[in-house]
Parts: sequence; C-alpha cells; structure tokens
Amino acid sequence: MIAVPAFVADYQVSIDAELRRLVPDSGATVQRAMAYTLLAPSKRVRPVLTLLSAEICGGRRAPALAASAAIELVHAASLILDDLPSMDDAPLRRGRPANHKEFGEAVAILAAFALLNLAFGTVAKAYDPAVASKMSAVLSDAVGIEGLVGGQAGDLLAAGQPIEFEMLERIHRGKTGSLFVAAAVAGGLVGGGHADAIASLSAYAKNLGLAFQIIDDLLDVEGDPAQTGKAVRADARRTTFVSFSGVEGARQLAAELCETADRALRPFGRRADQLRELSAFVAGRSI
Ligand code: IPE
Ligand code: IPE
Ligand code: MG
Ligand code: MG
Ligand code: MG
Repeated sequence: MIAVPAFVADYQVSIDAELRRLVPDSGATVQRAMAYTLLAPSKRVRPVLTLLSAEICGGRRAPALAASAAIELVHAASLILDDLPSMDDAPLRRGRPANHKEFGEAVAILAAFALLNLAFGTVAKAYDPAVASKMSAVLSDAVGIEGLVGGQAGDLLAAGQPIEFEMLERIHRGKTGSLFVAAAVAGGLVGGGHADAIASLSAYAKNLGLAFQIIDDLLDVEGDPAQTGKAVRADARRTTFVSFSGVEGARQLAAELCETADRALRPFGRRADQLRELSAFVAGRSI
C-alpha cells in the first residue's frame, strides 16, 4: 500500500472493503473494467476526508462508508475518462495501464458511466430519503457544469490558449476542488453535522482540493512514476499552476492554501488534528 499518514491506512482498509463489496472483480467485462481502476492502489484521500468529516460531526465510521464509497466511485469514473485518448491520452493510471489500454475505449467509457451511476444508486440505497436526496444533490453539483464536467471541459478547451489566473483557478476548483468539497459535505451530512460545522468542513475542503491539484501539477513535472503510478508530462499540453507560476511559485501557493484550509478548522480545536495531518500530507506529498 502507498505510504500515507499512519491513521489513514486504517481508513483505507475499510474503504477498500466497501468498494470490493460494491464492485467485485469478476463477472461481466464492464464490471471487471470498473474494478480494474476502482480497486487499484490509490491514496483514497477523498473518501478518507468523508469519513473524517462524518466523525468530527459526531457520526460513526460504518454508516459513512457508503457515502465515502460514492465519492470514490465518482473519482474513479473521472480518472477513466480523463485518461482517454480524446482527453489526456495517458498511458498509466494507479500503476497499471490506463483502463482504455486494457479494455478498449468503448468498455472504458461504459465502465466510467457505470461507476458514476453506481455512486448515485449507492447513496439512494444506503440512507434515509432526507439524507439521500441532499447527498445526491451535493454529488450532482460536484459532477456538473460548475464541477468536474465544467472544470474538465475548461481544462481541455483552454489547452494552448492564454488564460488568466482567475480562469485557471476556476478550472482547477471545478475539476478537482468540487469533489473534495462534496466529500467533506457528504461526510458532514451522514454524520449529522450542524450547518456551521459543515460550512467549516466545506471551506477546508475547497482550499485543500485546490492545493491537491497544484501538487498534482507539480508531480506531473517532477514526480516519480514508480511512486505516483502515472506517467510524467501527461499534462504538458495543459495550462497548469506550474506552467503559470513555476515550480517554486506553485509549491508556495499550495502551502498557503493548506494553511488557509487549516484555519477553517479552528472551530473544531484539537478534534480536527487528523484533518490537519491530511492537509500536511497533501502539501508535502510525492505520491
Ligand atoms: C488524481 O487524483 C486526479 C486528480 C484530481 C489530481 P489522486 O492523486 O487522488 O489519485 P489516486 O486516487 O490516489 O489514484
Ligand atoms: C484531472 O486532472 C482531474 C480529474 C477530474 C480527473 P489531471 O489530468 O491533472 O489528473 P491526473 O494527473 O491525470 O491524475
Ligand atoms: Mg486532465
Ligand atoms: Mg490527466
Ligand atoms: Mg495531473
């Protein structure tokens, strides 16, 4: 397993078991394609954020597992699509050939749709109607035009074009930040958190998510594929924080965003120490 903060490993085991239960690596080709990317080695940062958010709001881990799995299902779908020849044309994901390299483009696209669909079904089946409908709305916003889809489209359409810093930030908040926010809010909802607690978690996640993408852009330039599980320079055609601000500028910005993220945790006091460890990991990660 990939090295992450010690407490994270325990959460990863619970999340991986839930994901294996939802998508067994067997049966129809599309299901095996879903499992291929979903169950491959991952940091599981987003579902861990969901579980920590649920717990800090007073919830228990077990009931939050379905929400955390739904977030990871959306993430895995986005990775399969992002790697397609029409998008980043990336050969390697999670230390394995990209989904379309293994199963072909048609099956990869269907597997991504199936993962996304399963995310909504998982939420609908796991929670009572009030929580399920709020969480579905949160997920839908995270995937939609203001979220993953809009951010990813902006990322692709801006390739080779001069863009303003504000636009770059908007793209990155959409393609990556939005799912971090959904991860935290979904955890807060299932944990029964008050609106102000959920707002604090959302502010933390918004800044953490942007920092996460900036470090990802850095790792695209100077990461080690043996550690990241993906090829370097896959984003060479994209405008990234590194192409915009340089390596040092990007690193500095990520550190500042993690500090801003941590400031949003003040109302929780020491109870948020694991979330602080998570942001420290994001700022310094090489995986
Ligand atoms: C990669 O996400 C895609 C981005 C939004 C940067 P992760 O770095 O979390 O990938 P896994 O889940 O650990 O494989
Ligand atoms: C992808 O950003 C964001 C997604 C929504 C998948 P990147 O294209 O930088 O992610 P990686 O580097 O391929 O994981
Ligand atoms: Mg991309
Ligand atoms: Mg990519
Ligand atoms: Mg990248």
